[in-house]
Amino acid sequence: MSQDKLNIALVGAAGLVAAPAHLNSIPMIERMNFVALCDVDADAVQLLARERGVEKAYSSYEELLTDPDIDTVDLATPPFVHAEMAIAAARAGKHVYVEKPMARSLGEARAMVKAAAEAGTRLQVGESYIFHGPHRVARELINADEIGEVLQVRETRGPWVFNETENARLGGQGHHIAWRYDPALSGGGDFPWMMDHAPHFFATARLFNGMTAIERVNAMARLHGEGREAHLRGVTAVTWTYEGGKTDGLWMQADTDPGAGRYIGFHTEVVGSKGTLLVFGEGGGSAPGYPQVAPVTLFANGTEKYFDPAEGEDRSWASNNSYYDRAHGNTLSHFADTVLDGTRSFYTPEDGMADLTATLATIKSAVDGTPVALADVPDDWTAYRAG
Ligand SMILES: NC(=O)c1ccc[n+]([C@@H]2O[C@H](COP(=O)([O-])OP(=O)(O)OC[C@H]3O[C@@H](n4cnc5c(N)ncnc54)[C@H](O)[C@@H]3O)[C@@H](O)[C@H]2O)c1
Repeated sequence: MSQDKLNIALVGAAGLVAAPAHLNSIPMIERMNFVALCDVDADAVQLLARERGVEKAYSSYEELLTDPDIDTVDLATPPFVHAEMAIAAARAGKHVYVEKPMARSLGEARAMVKAAAEAGTRLQVGESYIFHGPHRVARELINADEIGEVLQVRETRGPWVFNETENARLGGQGHHIAWRYDPALSGGGDFPWMMDHAPHFFATARLFNGMTAIERVNAMARLHGEGREAHLRGVTAVTWTYEGGKTDGLWMQADTDPGAGRYIGFHTEVVGSKGTLLVFGEGGGSAPGYPQVAPVTLFANGTEKYFDPAEGEDRSWASNNSYYDRAHGNTLSHFADTVLDGTRSFYTPEDGMADLTATLATIKSAVDGTPVALADVPDDWTAYRAG
């Protein structure tokens, strides 16, 4: 490609959660021109475009796709429109960056990959955990053999605590968005929060083990409570094995009370044959009342060493590492480089599909009450038609 910048349009620009991270990070990316915003909320998108100094505002995605000034769409829209939007964009000759989860079924995801291949356009799933600063630092330490052979990846979801600014923005209501709780619109059936979060934790689990594929998962379902409680707590723990059989992994829910555990947010221990890493992810840090721990700690040879990518604090979470703006910015920036330079992405569409497959297998395991091999997830299987 001879051009030196992508001309990008953000779709779902008036959204509550992903959009602000994209709105903040795109202007910081040297190889992107921010040319348009789009949202079905016409008033909100007009206002945002004025506030952010973005030239064009669309309330119709179909109309946006006819704009020759736009070569790339960034889809920060809900999962139920990812496939149709990505396919339409490819057919209009536009590159696509699509937020996770890639789609609601493997069939949808495969159709997205096919449409991009036929159009000769690029497709990238916005898997921001892969490009999160502390995760990248940890991966470099693993590659440098600091912990030896990876034996086990242990991921924990501790309580995610909003900071005061975010609490004020959200009116103390958190991320209360209807599609997130809806079985079909989220794609997650009875386990919508798993659909939302599991792509991230499987991507991270593979990142810390040389991107090795996951073979089989086993979910411990716990359907109880109502509303937000049931939504968040539907699965208590997931275990998995990687292909090759040498390494296994675990994700678990921890305390909801930030005072009850030492760490908050998403954090991972990577246990190796000669050392262990403690890595803070989204919303990660020490619980209130505990001394703040560095984003990455290496325990090896009887010592502790601390690492900090120095990307600042988070905009939303009470966390000592910047997830929302920096991890998203890192991911979008990598996408621009790969498209403009014609290079392979570190996180290919096949990676997006692999993490979607593990996510669907996890929900299938929770529904069926048995372990599920990823190879046994049919293309047309959806969590919202299971039962
Ligand atoms: N990578 C991450 O850490 C991260 C974080 C949050 C959300 N997400 C993902 O981002 C996506 C959006 O999530 P959210 O919580 O920000 O949702 P949201 O509901 O706050 O925002 C979605 C926006 O899309 C708009 N929209 C819906 N249909 C549209 C259409 N046809 N045309 C134009 N606009 C349309 C809505 O009006 C809304 O403003 C989801 O896939 C979610 O999983 C990723």
